Amino acid sequence: MSQEKLLEVKNLKQHFKTGRHSVVKAVDGISFDIYKGETFGLVGESGCGKSTTGRSIIRLYNATDGQVTFGGEDVHGKKSKAKLKEFNQKMQMIFQDPYASLNPRMTVMDIIAEGLDIHGLVNNQQERKARVHDLLERVGLNKEHASRYPHEFSGGQRQRIGIARALAVDPEFIIADEPISALDVSIQAQVVNLLKDLQKEHGYTYLFIAHDLSMVKYISDRIGVMYFGKMVELADSEELYKNPLHPYTKSLLSAIPLPDPDYERNRVRTEYNPADHDTSETPEFREIRPNHWVLCTTKEFEAYKKEIKN
Ligand SMILES: Nc1ncnc2c1ncn2[C@@H]1O[C@H](COP(=O)(O)OP(=O)(O)OP(=O)(O)O)[C@@H](O)[C@H]1O
Ligand SMILES: [Mg+2]
Repeated sequence: MSQEKLLEVKNLKQHFKTGRHSVVKAVDGISFDIYKGETFGLVGESGCGKSTTGRSIIRLYNATDGQVTFGGEDVHGKKSKAKLKEFNQKMQMIFQDPYASLNPRMTVMDIIAEGLDIHGLVNNQQERKARVHDLLERVGLNKEHASRYPHEFSGGQRQRIGIARALAVDPEFIIADEPISALDVSIQAQVVNLLKDLQKEHGYTYLFIAHDLSMVKYISDRIGVMYFGKMVELADSEELYKNPLHPYTKSLLSAIPLPDPDYERNRVRTEYNPADHDTSETPEFREIRPNHWVLCTTKEFEAYKKEIKN
């Protein structure tokens, strides 16, 4: 992981009008950076705004407010067609549901080659075929799979096809939105390992979205925890697991089961109650110690500082 920022998200807001007088603040002013070559894990319960964050970053939505910079260039705002195409190539997405995200009427060859065609990355059929065969091998499938259709594959294999499709256009940044949540536990680790191996080999930068903290720790360099459209804590993986400070992070961690009966017998689940917070002022995102940020009031900040020393 380098010190070079690939993605900078500043005060990003994505509000959806759901009625004449109602607005859903799906993402409500979050800021974070992602460094080149790292995996940034984004976690939080269903509906907290993880997917919306990912979709806003790649311009699937017009952001309500805030700024997203990729490789030093503003992603939102007016763009030339060529610039948009470049962003679309450099930023790719892998989806949760490998059943719904692959067109059932297209062969694996055409699914994977779609991006190659759109971005004009191959000169002829032979090159196209060779590229797809190579991609299939890179994700642990083989070239015989190219002529088949999605329904002929298992969930894990389909996710591999989804990964090959994302890699086809030679991206720099990949948003993986719960890429393993729909898979059997036994194959989740295989897909995570594949993503890690590909990253080692090609230096990809990942935004890895998940709703619990169990697999995220294993794959992420840093983790951001979201709650109701806000980022409540952000730290290096190790640090977050060792010294969780925000009560919501603590509750997420207490929910992870471990295959250790002694641990399981003594595991205490803590519930998060937002009403327990200090309400004397509006909380701000504050740095408790280098690279460890928590959403808190001044009072809570002092308490967290004391807590972390112990
Ligand atoms: N297009 C939309 N229009 C209106 N509301 C939306 C839209 N997209 C998302 N929302 C709402 O925004 C909030 C955040 O949704 P989002 O899908 O980002 O959550 P998530 O953290 O990805 O959840 P999950 O873990 O279930 O995937 C939810 O309340 C959702 O209902
Ligand atoms: Mg989601």
